[in-house]
Amino acid sequence: MTDFEATSLPGLAETVTFDFGKLTPRERYKLLIGAVVPRPIALVTTVSAEGVANAAPFSFFNCLSADPAILALGVEYRPSGAQKDTGRNIRETLAFSVNIVSDAILEAMNVCAVPFAPGVDELTAAGLTAAPGIRVPCPRIVESPVTFECRHHTTLGIGNSREIILGEVVYAHFHAQAVNVTNLHVDPAVVDAVGRMGGHGYASTRDYFDLPTMSVEQWQSGKPAQRS
Ligand SMILES: Cc1cc2nc3c(=O)[nH]c(=O)nc-3n(C[C@H](O)[C@H](O)[C@H](O)COP(=O)(O)O)c2cc1C
Repeated sequence: MTDFEATSLPGLAETVTFDFGKLTPRERYKLLIGAVVPRPIALVTTVSAEGVANAAPFSFFNCLSADPAILALGVEYRPSGAQKDTGRNIRETLAFSVNIVSDAILEAMNVCAVPFAPGVDELTAAGLTAAPGIRVPCPRIVESPVTFECRHHTTLGIGNSREIILGEVVYAHFHAQAVNVTNLHVDPAVVDAVGRMGGHGYASTRDYFDLPTMSVEQWQSGKPAQRS
């Protein structure tokens, strides 16, 4: 039984609390991935020093900075302690590409998560089309609506079971319908990204709405921004 405490404040929902120092790694994982949702999914393409292409999905993934343009991946080690092919390839070649996962390539992405032997090209197994990168040796996935080519920036060794890899975006590919090249608005309906939930769950981004951030004046005006 997980160590927790139940508390309640008068008139408010009952709360259960967890001391993370007393949880197992698996328990922490379950609470984090269930609550930090939806997480974007990077289908990461890399190439080994020998030139073998690799693709694998990562949802411990996000954009952390625009200047410089930094994307972050949380890459676990295998239960044996060995690096996953993605982590090893990035260490060897100092490059990776992030392909955004749209609804149309969700099942193909799931094939790329199969723990194939290092020599297996997941892109071929998944029926995805590879095209050469422009600034990095990693292939991009043609079916993905957006690909960011990244050069390795920093690896943070945060423990014995995983590493956080930061990459700087040096080149981007967008499906032409996905971005307005005049104002750089990216159309979420065309990108049609899928997010990762807890367990084996996913969520689409089709339930989209706007809610503009307000100025202090608008907030004080009594006419707060509305969803539209
Ligand atoms: C949607 C999804 C998200 C995943 N996110 C991560 C992640 O953030 N970190 C990780 O280490 N593995 C993650 N995995 C598991 C890896 O994709 C899996 O271990 C893969 O086989 C690694 O492949 P590689 O050895 O070719 O790098 C995820 C799997 C799926 C299906």
